[in-house]
Amino acid sequence: MRELALRVDEIVSSDADAADRQTLPLLPLKVCGLTFRAGGRTLIDNLDLALGMHGITMMLGPNGAGKSLLLRLLHGLIAPSSGEISWNGVPLGHSVQERQALVFQKPVLLRRSVGENLDFALRLMGQSSQQRRDELLNRVGLLRLARQPARLLSGGEQQRLALARALAADPQVLLLDEPTASLDPASVQMIEGIVQDASRQGMRIVFVTHDIGQARRLADDVVFMHRGRVAEHAPSKDFFQSPASEAARDFLAGRIVL
Ligand SMILES: Nc1ncnc2c1ncn2[C@@H]1O[C@H](COP(=O)(O)OP(=O)(O)O)[C@@H](O)[C@H]1O
Ligand SMILES: [Mg+2]
Repeated sequence: MRELALRVDEIVSSDADAADRQTLPLLPLKVCGLTFRAGGRTLIDNLDLALGMHGITMMLGPNGAGKSLLLRLLHGLIAPSSGEISWNGVPLGHSVQERQALVFQKPVLLRRSVGENLDFALRLMGQSSQQRRDELLNRVGLLRLARQPARLLSGGEQQRLALARALAADPQVLLLDEPTASLDPASVQMIEGIVQDASRQGMRIVFVTHDIGQARRLADDVVFMHRGRVAEHAPSKDFFQSPASEAARDFLAGRIVL
């Protein structure tokens, strides 16, 4: 009897841990002195960044500035050479990945049907249900294509499926790396709408783009990256009206930024 009581205790406490993990807020994010070196080059250079609780952060900057690397570092896909990343005061660790999702520029899908791609993701999270799957497919406008092989989708449709898969995890933070680059305008509009809806429902968004118009449409704040650093971080209105850094001024004026 005594042994049984102990076991029940253990089960209750492990449930409580799981519940804590889910409800514990990830934000705010703090990055201090983050550095990433590879191939003899310093690609992320002593970078500092703080992100608050709410809104859509648009990340801009010339090609090669380190935007994709920064997202990978924030997601814990690569390890920094030095520096600190902490989510809500807790150093970056595996549990963070369960509560944030990263969408890449080129979606990576399974060679299965559209619906099965989502089923697979939901199963991994132990949340498999047809209702949830259909709700997600509907949210990204792909319900009628559920049975089609994913590889036959257009680029825009594939990216919407990747987005649905990311949303399936109901992440607190959604990291997007140029998700609409080279997509048709209708898909761009749809993806922007999905991201705005997710933001309104409280999901924190960090969205890398090279499209200044897109940044203007979506941003609450702008992080401008240049040469592996944050050259500027400002509320959207301030950034677009009077960028403080020369690199951002050049970028917004369409000049080449090296
Ligand atoms: N694993 C890596 N090893 C060496 N160099 C890399 C690696 N990943 C990216 N780079 C280089 O780091 C720089 C920044 O890359 P990236 O973050 O992709 O820039 P952005 O997304 O801003 O265009 C580029 O010069 C790129 O070639
Ligand atoms: Mg990139």
